Amino acid sequence: MYFIDYFCQKIKVNKIGILTSGGDSPGMNACIRAVVRTAHYFGIETIGFIRGYDGLIDNQYVTLSRNSVSGIIHRGGTILKTARSERFRTEEGLKMAAKNIANHSLDGMVIIGGDGSFKGAIEWSKYTNVQIVGCPGTIDNDLLGTDFTIGYDTAINTVIEAVDKLRDTAESHDRIFVVEVMGRDAGLIALRSAIASGAEAILVPEIKNDVDVLIQKINSWRKDKSSKIIIVAEGDETGGAYKVADIIKQYKPDHDVRITVLGHIQRGGNPSCMERVNASLMGYHAVKSLMDNRHLVMIGIIDKKVSYTPFEKATKHIQNINEDLLQMLEILSS
Ligand code: F6P
Repeated sequence: MYFIDYFCQKIKVNKIGILTSGGDSPGMNACIRAVVRTAHYFGIETIGFIRGYDGLIDNQYVTLSRNSVSGIIHRGGTILKTARSERFRTEEGLKMAAKNIANHSLDGMVIIGGDGSFKGAIEWSKYTNVQIVGCPGTIDNDLLGTDFTIGYDTAINTVIEAVDKLRDTAESHDRIFVVEVMGRDAGLIALRSAIASGAEAILVPEIKNDVDVLIQKINSWRKDKSSKIIIVAEGDETGGAYKVADIIKQYKPDHDVRITVLGHIQRGGNPSCMERVNASLMGYHAVKSLMDNRHLVMIGIIDKKVSYTPFEKATKHIQNINEDLLQMLEILSS
């Protein structure tokens, strides 16, 4: 639905900027590398702004050459550093960033970030003529217009590795483990990691009152089920793993419940193979998109094809969780 592939006119691009913004995510470095190397191939200079939009406002930047992105494809985090810039929300900040860009004579900007970063870019475009394209960088996978955001695959693999370990100890003690995963507004990390780790239940922000359903479910669990893993997305309206564990203890005082909050460990680590390939593809197409005169679009991958989604659409949160996956989890975890 959001796949837009209109005819684009080629334009001459001489110099571009790149930055990473919002929460870091594994694969951002692979994307930076792809942008810099693709730009180099087409004779385009690249500069990288440090600490996201704050770097744009403070004019903190580095010149990026083919060599300066060597040895980073496998590294988590971002060599450009990142930030959630408060100043970029102010008119003064937006104007300062626009002024700096004009002084650099940039033809285009590549923003690697999530929802907030693209919303910031939309605002900024009112103050600058620079062409802006984005690559989806967030572990939450909560952007429309791509099947997978940069960082999501690695994060869910980190979660299942942790849950597999928790399963060993849960099994040995016949315990319930409530595991909190990231996902401020979306339960997509929770859903996929729950399926892949064989979790017994999930609580996600997309579904309301799921804690009541959880209690009914606990009552119906097979008596011979030894360990039980409940994955809670941090954004679930119940209020996180501690609250969920309290509720379970209240209704089921005879159950032995433990809590694990995985936290920022989900944001680190070497990107998976899929992450590196997707991030490279998106970075490569980000540069080509600027050459094709695209503006305010996010490069994504839908059904293995490159897609271009206007920032405005990309940043609308997915409110519906995949019902089929949910139902399958329900059946398989019984
Ligand atoms: O970037 C997404 C995310 O990892 C969310 O899942 C989480 O709620 C948030 O970032 C945490 O942000 P911070 O690192 O700024 O505390």
